[in-house]
Amino acid sequence: MTDVRINPSILAADFANFEREFERISSADAAHVDIMDNHFVPNLTFGQPMVERLQSLGTLPLDLHLMIENPDHWAPHFAEMGVFSVTFHLEAATAPATIARNIKAFGARAGVALRPGTPFAMIEELLPHFDQLLIMTVEPGFGGQKFMPETMPKLRQAREWATRTGSEIWLQVDGGVGAETIEKAAEAGADTFVAGSAVFRGEPAIEIARLRELAATH
Ligand code: DX5
Ligand code: ZN
Repeated sequence: MTDVRINPSILAADFANFEREFERISSADAAHVDIMDNHFVPNLTFGQPMVERLQSLGTLPLDLHLMIENPDHWAPHFAEMGVFSVTFHLEAATAPATIARNIKAFGARAGVALRPGTPFAMIEELLPHFDQLLIMTVEPGFGGQKFMPETMPKLRQAREWATRTGSEIWLQVDGGVGAETIEKAAEAGADTFVAGSAVFRGEPAIEIARLRELAATH
């Protein structure tokens, strides 16, 4: 049985009250921070000054999801800020293994993300360089979208690869994850769950406990 990790996405939080919002999700494993540059995805969110401020709250480890162009340049700069993990998109990267090495050099976990249309075969050989793999279960860019069950075969492939090779890589899902979908993802092999609207829509502590329980029964 793998551990279950629940990382609320603060994209669904109140942007004018992050200090309070972080308190409300203090039972989570990490806060998932979506960094969007309006180029890799058609939306714009936070930059380094915001990450620095969230980091200074010290409430939760930060799990950064970079939806940006040129992660070769930017990912190490984010890692340098002392965050827990930095995940970048394979589709935007030139030298993924080098980026992973540079992230880890700053003591952060290195993650790589795949859009729904990017096949597992594109990352398989490079996976030993990474601490975590993020399988997107929606098209990146916006919260509140519908979970895509057609991404589950890719997650199964990743879990099979991890079992076969003895890898301890964490398998993360992100997008449309909630009480109705989390069991599907857990059953297909995910151990780390990002949920934005499902957590902040209700009472976060209750929603986090509910998701944890549903995921753990698999
Ligand atoms: C989408 C982001 C997600 C998003 C998830 O591009 O990467 O982290 O915040 O939001 P929900 O859980 O509402 O689908
Ligand atoms: Zn995300």
